[in-house]
Amino acid sequence: MSESKKVTMDEVNKHKSQGDLWLIVHGKVYDVSKFMDEHPGGDEVLLSEAGRDGSDAFEDVGHSDDARALLPGMLKGELEGAEQSKSSGGSAPKVNQAVQESGNPILMFIPLILLGAWLAYRYTQD
Ligand code: HEM
Repeated sequence: MSESKKVTMDEVNKHKSQGDLWLIVHGKVYDVSKFMDEHPGGDEVLLSEAGRDGSDAFEDVGHSDDARALLPGMLKGELEGAEQSKSSGGSAPKVNQAVQESGNPILMFIPLILLGAWLAYRYTQD
């Protein structure tokens, strides 16, 4: 169901040849197999980025917006960031610690306590 399928580095490394080439640009994996013949920069430059991060090479050329617009059509998925390509599941997912670091939850109740105290004070004065 998830839109962004994860692609492992192992998978990328299976597609490194003429007519069967996947490239990594900005953390995403693109299947440029059919496009490589039409690539204005030629197929050799694409092949030289096989199996590695082609982001810098892609940016150095200063590709046009038209070139960038072609990318979504070739998208295979996101590159799997974690080094889990050899394990067949079962390893613990990353723990998102940031969620835990937003402060002491008791502090949230201080305004409520003050409000309660004020209301109680008001109520007892009437
Ligand atoms: C991965 C997807 C890529 C797409 C969709 C793509 C697409 C294009 C397009 C449409 C152009 C024509 C000029 C423009 O519109 O900017 C172009 C030119 C070029 N591309 Fe790519 N490119 C890709 C990857 C790369 C990579 C990884 C390299 C370098 C290693 C590269 C090197 C070049 C060069 C050198 C040109 C200039 C050709 C010239 O003007 O003589 N491209 N590319």
